[in-house]
Formats: sequence, C-alpha cells, structure tokens
Amino acid sequence: MRNSIVLTVLAISGLSFLAAWPSGAQQAGRPDLRTPESFGSIGDPKARSVALFEEAGRVLTHPRCLNCHPVSDRPLQGETSRPHEPPIFAGETGLGSPSMPCTSCHGQSNFRLVGTRVGSMPGNPKWQLAPREMAWENQTLGAICRQLKDPARNGGKDFAALIEHSAHDELVGWGWNPGVGRASAPGTQELFGLLVKAWIETGAECPD
Ligand code: HEC
Ligand code: HEC
Repeated sequence: MRNSIVLTVLAISGLSFLAAWPSGAQQAGRPDLRTPESFGSIGDPKARSVALFEEAGRVLTHPRCLNCHPVSDRPLQGETSRPHEPPIFAGETGLGSPSMPCTSCHGQSNFRLVGTRVGSMPGNPKWQLAPREMAWENQTLGAICRQLKDPARNGGKDFAALIEHSAHDELVGWGWNPGVGRASAPGTQELFGLLVKAWIETGAECPD
C-alpha cells in the first residue's frame, strides 16, 4: 500500500524507474562541529554562551532540520529548502491530511530509490512536521534561540527536556542519518546535545 502510493507519486513526478529496500548502515557523522571545550578560552560567560549557541545553530539551521521547521505547514525539501513536491500540507496535527498522511509515503526508515535523482526516500517512525510555533525558516538565530527557550512555544519543555530532546530524540537523530543523496547535519547528535547542554549551563544566552 505505502510503496504503491510512493511509486505512483514518483511516477507522476516523472521518475520512471526505481527499486526500494531499507537503507543500510547509519552514516557516520562528520567531525565538523566544535566541541563545548573548544569555547573554554572565552572568559566572559555571556559571550561563551552565545558562541556555544551559534555553534549549535549550525545544526538547527541546516536543511536537514530547517526543512521540517518551516513557517507554513508545507514542508521543505533538499539542500536549498525548496517547497515540498508533491505539494503536501501538514495541517493542525503535523501529520498531513487524513487522505494523504505523511506516512503514506514516509515509512519507518529511509529506503533507497534506484535510478532517480532523489536517491532515497526519508523515513522515521515519528515522521511529522514541527508545529508552526517552532518555525525556524526565515528567522534570525537570535529569534530561534528565544523560541527554543520559551515553554509556550517549545512544546512545554524545560531546560532538562530540551537537552534530552536534542541529545536523544530519534526524529532529531534522523538529521545525521538522512539517507542516500542528502547531506548529514554537521557533527553528531551526541555533540549537538553537548553543545545545547553547555549553552544552557552558561546561562542560555541568545545572540541579538
Ligand atoms: C505523496 C508522497 C509524500 C507525502 C504524503 C509526504 N512526502 Fe515528504 N517527501 C516525499 C518525497 C518523494 C521526498 C523526497 C524528495 C527529495 O528528496 O527530493 C520527500 C521529502 C521530504 C522532506 C525533505 C527531507 C530533506 O531534508 O530533504 C521533508 C522534510 C518531508 N518530506 C516532510 C514531509 C511531511 C512532514 C509530510 C506530511 C505532512 C510529508 N513529507 C508527506 C514524498 C511525500
Ligand atoms: C521530520 C520532521 C523533523 C525533522 C527532520 C526535524 N524536526 Fe525537530 N521537531 C519536529 C517535530 C514534530 C517537533 C515537535 C516534537 C516535540 O515537541 O516533541 C520538533 C521539535 C524540535 C525541538 C523541540 C523544541 C523546539 O522548540 O523546537 C528541537 C530542539 C528540534 N526539533 C530540533 C531538531 C534538530 C536539531 C533537527 C535536525 C538535526 C530537527 N529538529 C529535525 C520535526 C522535525
């Protein structure tokens, strides 16, 4: 059922030949995110906190994360964060319309699409769009920072929950296992979690 809908959609998109199977091993994270320790030389705690957030912000504003945190309820796609094709609207629930839920195309895990430009179909058990109040598209890093700290706009998370979500949530983790044809978010989820923790421990200061 699911695969037949995907096949139909991809055929409509002009992608004529494909085969699908579950994706292979987890892609290794790239070591291009700085560690919290590397900010130790910044003496002023506020400046250190802002610098830590700016480093974590390299993950938050990466297309793997931004594409699910858009201003509208239409997801974004690809390295340039273009509007999702086919046109899909997540609605109030974030799960899509009853007749066309995200899960009609996005499965439990990534799978390869052979012979297509796309390379693979993203999948995760928790696949759904972030709520509108968590929109990061077109926002400054300072605005994203203030949104993250605000329980009224972050799903009621206190600092401990925010660290836990960043470090261990499996949908966040998809950003480092995005499937063939998509660049991974910088660093690793573990390192991202440590940066968020260090930012909070230094006062959770935001850039302007
Ligand atoms: C009719 C099939 C279909 C439905 C339904 C669908 N998608 Fe997609 N989606 C795709 C395809 C195909 C791709 C891969 C396209 C590509 O990478 O160029 C994709 C890619 C994406 C991406 C891009 C990932 C990235 O970083 O490049 C996001 C985000 C996304 N979908 C979110 C959603 C959400 C959220 C829903 C439900 C509200 C949804 N999609 C419903 C077919 C669908
Ligand atoms: C497939 C869509 C999707 C992708 C991809 C995604 N998110 Fe989210 N994100 C969500 C949803 C849905 C929520 C709300 C869930 C909740 O609050 O428990 C959320 C909430 C969050 C939150 C909670 C707090 C807040 O105020 O936003 C953080 C932090 C977060 N995401 C970080 C990330 C990071 C970092 C990445 C990339 C590595 C990422 N997300 C990629 C869908 C996504």
